Amino acid sequence: MSAAPVVPTTAKTLDALPMTLPRIAEKKRLGEPLVMVTAYDYPSAQVAEAAGVDIVLVGDSGAMTVLGYSSTVPVSVDELIMLTAATRRGLRTPLLVADLPFGSYEGSDELAIATAQRFIKEGGADAVKLEGGGMMVRRAAAIVSAGIPVMGHVGLTPQTATAIGGYKAQGRTADAAWKVASESLALQEAGCFSIVWEAIPAAVADELMPRMEIPVIGIGAGASTDGQVLVFHDLLGIREGVGARFVKRYGDVMDEMVRGVRAYADDVRTHRYPEAEHTYSIDPGELSDFRKRLQAS
Ligand code: KIV
Repeated sequence: MSAAPVVPTTAKTLDALPMTLPRIAEKKRLGEPLVMVTAYDYPSAQVAEAAGVDIVLVGDSGAMTVLGYSSTVPVSVDELIMLTAATRRGLRTPLLVADLPFGSYEGSDELAIATAQRFIKEGGADAVKLEGGGMMVRRAAAIVSAGIPVMGHVGLTPQTATAIGGYKAQGRTADAAWKVASESLALQEAGCFSIVWEAIPAAVADELMPRMEIPVIGIGAGASTDGQVLVFHDLLGIREGVGARFVKRYGDVMDEMVRGVRAYADDVRTHRYPEAEHTYSIDPGELSDFRKRLQAS
């Protein structure tokens, strides 16, 4: 196996300064769109770094995209910390945010702080993200008071999809839009440095944006938010099936990977691989000695 870096280091990444919370707030103030993407391991982090994104999220979507679970619910803290640490090793510039998995923060402020601390100490994350309003506003405030930056997440919250009626857009009635608004404002008040709005009507986002002092990152929330986030595997086409309405595909990496492995399999089966250029040589004298030893044995 070759250990050579596969992603070229561009001049841009060499010059780029590490992203900080003040720089993120400044981008909002200047109206510069924030780019966030998920990553879950060393190579996807290297891709995000080379592409020059602002924020990388080790989303609990990794439960599905890289660990093969059928939802985000089963993933453990240890599993997500391992993904976060691998991602950290591939990143230098973007802010690294890690999702707190389902069941790892809801129970008490103490639990929320202890879990968040593990992601910072063991995973190398710069900040954590948690889902929901209500009691989760208190958990967010507790983590912030422990010195750890928190990103909120409202609208479609996959960890509690069953409770909110499934994987579907939220905020589509006045009451439901009010819930998104009040949760967002409460999380802002609690000290979150940013918030994700997932799958809410663009018109609701348009109305709410003037109330938001912290950067809002949208996913299926229209164009008026301060930034956008997409799941790495969705945007690059690394997973099968039809994605959510908000997914835009920028590549067909799964097809390309299958094509590559199939071509390799064909070459092995038809003896086209390996060729002479893929083999190592030995000095003819050494080879002759070796042959003699073999024959004598
Ligand atoms: O887990 C995840 O990937 C997320 C994004 C969709 C925001 O929470």
